[in-house]
Amino acid sequence: MRKKIIAGNWKMNYTASQAEDFLLSILDLINTDEVDVVVCPNYTALDRIQNILDDKKVKLGAQNVYFEPKGAYTGEISVDMLNALNVEYCIVGHSERRQYFNETNLDVNKKVKVLIEKGIKPILCVGETLEERNENKLFEKVELQIKEGLLDVSAEDVKNNVVIAYEPIWAIGTGVTATSAQAEEMCAYIRKVIAQIYGENVSESVRIQYGGSVNAKNANELLNMDNIDGALVGGAALTNDFVAIVNYEN
Ligand code: 13P
Repeated sequence: MRKKIIAGNWKMNYTASQAEDFLLSILDLINTDEVDVVVCPNYTALDRIQNILDDKKVKLGAQNVYFEPKGAYTGEISVDMLNALNVEYCIVGHSERRQYFNETNLDVNKKVKVLIEKGIKPILCVGETLEERNENKLFEKVELQIKEGLLDVSAEDVKNNVVIAYEPIWAIGTGVTATSAQAEEMCAYIRKVIAQIYGENVSESVRIQYGGSVNAKNANELLNMDNIDGALVGGAALTNDFVAIVNYEN
């Protein structure tokens, strides 16, 4: 049985103190051992947030990392810096990073590898544009993102340390959620791609989230699909809706 993982990607929202206030307002309402709950604040809030997550009921995630270990990379953050703040998960290859900061599958792959090497679990984001979906290129796009994103990552690491997030770009921040059938179809396809590369044993263990306008209303249905093992939540993770999503009915 794959344990569900529900992560809040707070993106570029909340100052450190706002992030702390918000989390303190919902923390007591999150009482589930059945789901891994992760919050991903911006870099400036990681330290404040780690200090209130001592009991590990909610885990800490980052939104990005740079693959070089240190040096003259103005504005970047290394894996060691995240580790020093007890970060357990890190989103990589989010479509906003690919779109606005020109991240390629190769960059994403370097980040995945350096995170795993240093004990942080990558949440590898993949997904197609509306145009790609309309032209029926969605499966080839996502397959390439998976294959290149996981290049040279071992079966054992994929099994134990990688989370994949399917986030169709047309569903992010738009209020247009993929139907549960569309989300399930792609998550099942991703599992098939993983099976082809790494075998059934790995594909049955790897956790695959859906992301894109997940909210308190649609979470139940999405999270009860066979191949959807959690959610990566944006806008709704900044509100009390996150509590309802985490406490979804299964
Ligand atoms: P929304 O939930 O706001 O659509 O964002 C999804 C997302 O990009 C999470 O990483």
